[in-house]
Amino acid sequence: MRSLLFVPGDSEKKLEKGFGAGADAVIVDLEDSVAPQNKSLARNVAARFIADQRHRTKSKVYVRINDLSTGLTDEDLAALVPAKPDGVMLPKSNSGQDVQQLSAKLRVHEAENGLPDGVIKILPIITETAAGVLTAASYAKASARLVGLTWGAEDLSAAIGARTARDENGRYTDVFRFARTMTILAAGAAEVAAIDTVFPNFRDMAAFEAECIGAERDGFTGKMAIHPAQVPVINAAFTPSAEAVKHSLAIVAAFEAAGNPGVVGIDGKMVDRPHLRLAERLLARAKAAGI
Ligand code: COA
Ligand code: MG
Repeated sequence: MRSLLFVPGDSEKKLEKGFGAGADAVIVDLEDSVAPQNKSLARNVAARFIADQRHRTKSKVYVRINDLSTGLTDEDLAALVPAKPDGVMLPKSNSGQDVQQLSAKLRVHEAENGLPDGVIKILPIITETAAGVLTAASYAKASARLVGLTWGAEDLSAAIGARTARDENGRYTDVFRFARTMTILAAGAAEVAAIDTVFPNFRDMAAFEAECIGAERDGFTGKMAIHPAQVPVINAAFTPSAEAVKHSLAIVAAFEAAGNPGVVGIDGKMVDRPHLRLAERLLARAKAAGI
């Protein structure tokens, strides 16, 4: 999944638009973009919309539930699992144990709805609490449902009392760079996708594109969006270029032709196993993107 577009779950108008935005996934939100008095309305609107309309979109459908400490999680799952979402986004996750707790709940709801055990995937946001950042390594092997890890800056700011997440030049400050880094490393350790966080200033497309390019360079394979206009920019930045695909195919072919050795020479340059691994990863991403 390259692009994951947030859509507030209580807005039928935005759901309609979001489902047609060309995102690899739509994240129907029941959490921060829904006011406390609208939670119940959002569950009903979202569940009905997903059940009725999902056949019209190629996007995967994820639901962001309210976190495990809110007392709202069970009602969120009871209302939304019958609509058969592809996955659930868990905000304010504190560790791999939270993923396991959610997995146990999903198992019950899947059984109640006649769904196969484990079909609903989990994508946690792992840096919205201070404890969450510090336990990032706990996601490896936490659950077969885990599809990726993502991070967030807004809630972490509130959790630690940081006035801003970025300095006067727009660059994340150290705590937030650390949280971002931990997400990439924890996703690598867990062998799941690293998904970059949202960019709230949705009118500044130049800065947004630069952030997408930097995220792809650093190992993220996708990014969350808050506005439909951000989706094509993300899809372009996270789709491997034709040149990169050609180069990766050449590396794979060279290893094959040489009988899969430890190292080969291509155009006068040493290419060893880590390069082969990178080439295979890039080709897998290209395939997933349909190229
Ligand atoms: N999903 C679907 N449709 C969206 C959308 C989204 N995330 N964001 C904007 N739109 C729609 C608007 O409703 C509007 O539709 P219209 O032309 O039919 O009126 C159109 O896209 C253009 O929107 P625009 O006027 O540029 O922005 P806005 O001021 O209406 O909305 C936000 C700005 C931030 C409120 C809106 O982008 C939003 O709700 N984003 C998602 C917020 C969210 O889910 N946050 C939680 C995760 S951090
Ligand atoms: Mg939040």
